[in-house]
Amino acid sequence: MTVESVNPVTPVASELREPPLAGGGVPLLGHGWKLARDPLAFMSQLRDHGDIVRIKLGPKTVYAVTTPALTGAMALSPDYIIAGPLWESLEGLLGKEGVATANGPLHRRQRRTIQPAFRLDAIPAYGPIMEEETRALVERWQGGETIDCTSESFRIAVRVAARCLLRGQFMDERAERLCIALASVFQGMYHRMVVPLGPLYRLPLPANREFNRALADLHLLVDEIVAERRASGQKPDDLLTALLEAKDDNGDPIGEQEIHDQVVAILTPGSETIASTIMSLLLVLADHPEQADKVCSEVRTVTGGRPVAFDDVRKLTHTNNVVIEAMRLRPAVWILTRRAVADTELGGYRIPAGADIVYSPYAIQRDPRSYERHLEFDPDRWLPERSKDIPKYAMRPFSVGNRKCPSDHFSMALLTLVTAVLADGFRFEQVPGSVDETRVGITLRPQRLRLKPVPR
Ligand code: HEM
Repeated sequence: MTVESVNPVTPVASELREPPLAGGGVPLLGHGWKLARDPLAFMSQLRDHGDIVRIKLGPKTVYAVTTPALTGAMALSPDYIIAGPLWESLEGLLGKEGVATANGPLHRRQRRTIQPAFRLDAIPAYGPIMEEETRALVERWQGGETIDCTSESFRIAVRVAARCLLRGQFMDERAERLCIALASVFQGMYHRMVVPLGPLYRLPLPANREFNRALADLHLLVDEIVAERRASGQKPDDLLTALLEAKDDNGDPIGEQEIHDQVVAILTPGSETIASTIMSLLLVLADHPEQADKVCSEVRTVTGGRPVAFDDVRKLTHTNNVVIEAMRLRPAVWILTRRAVADTELGGYRIPAGADIVYSPYAIQRDPRSYERHLEFDPDRWLPERSKDIPKYAMRPFSVGNRKCPSDHFSMALLTLVTAVLADGFRFEQVPGSVDETRVGITLRPQRLRLKPVPR
């Protein structure tokens, strides 16, 4: 089924139905308590109630879209913008002038500024940094000491993003600070989104104080990065120079706040998503030793035993499929929202102007109607002869349309390289005290994964 076939003719308003209300709501909280208690199960079971269903979060009605085709139709339609509780909390905390939350002409201008740094032909220039950082990881792990996967994954994610895109000398200390700041900020934002208790989050409670401290440090880090670049007087060909030299629609330099918010808007999703996905990949390598061996043997066939290089990545097709399959079952970005800007129609249902809409890539990517043996880790389902049967939009971890992640090529190259280098270098075992349950926040990742790397 394609998006085009979902919505061939817009029915007249009187023919449109209101989406059904999902069952199981309770007075005052509606479905909020279910969403807060087990969000992944809650979002996944909504598909049993309809293609679009209404849910109540406190007094608010939110529309949940549950089929791949309708999520694709929504992402490609101009009737929906980035807005809603998730984005409002993001804007309030991370800044109002970054590309991830802007809409309309401002968003288009900002995308034009950042896009060149992420173009397919720009990625090979990042190869040496990605190689260097991946090898540094392997060297640190050679001793076989237990790895704290959270801090190690953040370290490489932050260092690669910062060194490639901001050309900064990003020390481990800053990566560590960013990791701590993002963990608190994203967890706090998630609570604020799911349980919107407004003024209670301003009380001087320890959790609120920790959240505010983390947020302040995040902004301080970004100020440090921008100030350092200015003080250096250098203008390397990178994303930060593009931001510092960007002009607004009148041809004037963009403001300080916009520069700051743009760096936040790129560094934060860039670090959190990549780090979460590396953690999931490490879990895959530990839980599926046969897959780790298969990746290792593909790597050695391609490299003939020399260290993996960035240029090998495009030949590592099985490794790439392991990354995609890991992202299918444990998508870092598991929930997305939009707001309707006009009275509109989706899948034959009436969506009123101002409606908040939510959908879950996690639920879509685990839908048994789209995937045979949907919960099985099976990278070969991405072989061309098999993947052709997977419905369109059933696997869009970077989304589609004008809000599509600019970093899809960058991310896939890095994740494939990291997986190849790690599987080539080590076998992994979980150690006592490792908690591999999924931790749900703004992103998904294993709770507290601790692994012993055994050099091959
Ligand atoms: C947007 C996923 C890595 C920067 C998005 C969106 C998704 C996504 C799904 C669209 C959000 C929406 O539709 O509402 C991912 C995944 C990643 C990843 C799964 C890695 C595993 C990165 C990296 C960067 C980045 C490494 C930057 C260094 C952004 C930005 C946006 C975005 C700036 C906002 C784009 C816009 O609104 O125009 N990402 N991302 N992402 N991502 Fe990523």
